Amino acid sequence: MDIRVVIGDVAAFRCDAIVVNLFEGVKEPAGATAALDAALDRAVRKLIRGGEITGKWGSQTLLHTLGRLPAERVLVMGLGKREEFSLDRVRAVSAEALKALRKVGARQVASIVHGAGAGGVNPAQAAQALVEGAVLGLYRFGRYKPENDDAREITALSLLERDRAKLRALTEAVRRGRILAEATNAARDLVNEPGNTLTPSELARRAAAMARRSGVRCRVLAPAELTRMGAGALLGVARGSHEPPRMIVLEYRGRRGAGPHLGLVGKGITFDSGGISLKPAENMEAMKGDMAGGAAVLAATCAVARLGLPIAVTAVIPATENLPSGTALKPGDILRAMSGKTIEVVNTDAEGRLVLADALHYARRRGASHLVDVATLTGACVVALGSVNSGAFSNNQGLLDTVLAAGKAAGEKIWPLPMDPEYDDLIKSDVAEIKNSGGRKGGAITGAKFLQHFVEDTPWVHLDIAGTSDADKEKGYQPKGATGVMVRTLAQVAVELLET
Ligand code: BES
Ligand code: MN
Ligand code: ZN
Repeated sequence: MDIRVVIGDVAAFRCDAIVVNLFEGVKEPAGATAALDAALDRAVRKLIRGGEITGKWGSQTLLHTLGRLPAERVLVMGLGKREEFSLDRVRAVSAEALKALRKVGARQVASIVHGAGAGGVNPAQAAQALVEGAVLGLYRFGRYKPENDDAREITALSLLERDRAKLRALTEAVRRGRILAEATNAARDLVNEPGNTLTPSELARRAAAMARRSGVRCRVLAPAELTRMGAGALLGVARGSHEPPRMIVLEYRGRRGAGPHLGLVGKGITFDSGGISLKPAENMEAMKGDMAGGAAVLAATCAVARLGLPIAVTAVIPATENLPSGTALKPGDILRAMSGKTIEVVNTDAEGRLVLADALHYARRRGASHLVDVATLTGACVVALGSVNSGAFSNNQGLLDTVLAAGKAAGEKIWPLPMDPEYDDLIKSDVAEIKNSGGRKGGAITGAKFLQHFVEDTPWVHLDIAGTSDADKEKGYQPKGATGVMVRTLAQVAVELLET
């Protein structure tokens, strides 16, 4: 899809459809909506008076212009109540509009920047959100099902603006929105891909290809190197599988010397059967997405590079399958992590924290001054927060505040959960320094507590996305399936770290 800013008059623009909007309760349309209304013999006003156009949130009305305007159709989107308006509503309304227009076969589409006028939103931020919503909302995973990939595609999106002085700022905003949304879609592609094709080595190949295209350095550590480095926790999980593990390391250096060095660590379990502590068959297919954290940090690092942010980022993705076999890890086994710490494995299904232990340690060793890890870590987090909020856990209030603010800006909800020292008792082991499960009590918290042992005193936030990495129904700019959650939040964390 070609996306551009066009300076000009909505009533003179030739295309298949123009998207305009209306707040709830507005009787007299203004701005672009009024300009089109005038050319349409006041059809919009009449439909408002007749109660057919309400401006209610989620409402949409498609008008055919039948030769009265160069544009063939006008789509009037309801923006809802003015006081409830937000940037995230811009994303959603943009997605809903473009999905509706794609369905009717429109190819060349134009839109005014929702919210930049009466909505009182900063025009550049609104334009960025509009582009994000469009690119995210139109996403489909059609690789294995041709009908998900029908030929109807919107080929051009023009953002119409009257004021030439805004051209530069809006064009820059369009570029940012596109980079962030395309990175999110790249993460979605990886998460939607099944375990038989997206093995650890294939994930590494895809990471290397994405990194190359974005100007990021990528190194892939294979078993021999991992053994040499003492990555006993990652190698322990990998033992049950014929697929060799990979530690994927991405380095972006947008600035040399002083300044923050962001370490991003993402869980990369390409399929989690539970191992010897086997999961029940029901819904096990969802565990092809147990590398969503890894996909998020990979895509976010590439986005930060494309945005050209002056920051250093090191991303580490420990990738392996978790399978049962004659060589698999067994309950009771004791592993030695790369940091030297010994771990009693009481449940082989708590594999994410094992692979992350080595990856967090490695990221610190590579010089990370701030750590954020993203992982589909616990079913307990899904029980606590459902699929609305991702869980956040931290040893540093400042960095936690930065991540929460970034999530707000990105429209990705995050809720902090406690980390009191009392929870540490649950993962004490009789035979090793720590054990990998504390049982059912506070399951999301003890998962985070385990990880904390491997970050020492480096400022760190752990994001548990077990409930948010996959959507069971389509909504707004979120199609059913992989969400790509945290890609945009992590890129925004980089922006905000530079400001603090
Ligand atoms: N990948 C799962 C967590 C998960 C559950 C992700 C549901 C997405 C949806 C993780 O590896 C796991 O199995 N965790 C265990 C930990 C327990 C054994 C301490 C869990 O949550 O049951
Ligand atoms: Mn598991
Ligand atoms: Zn898992």
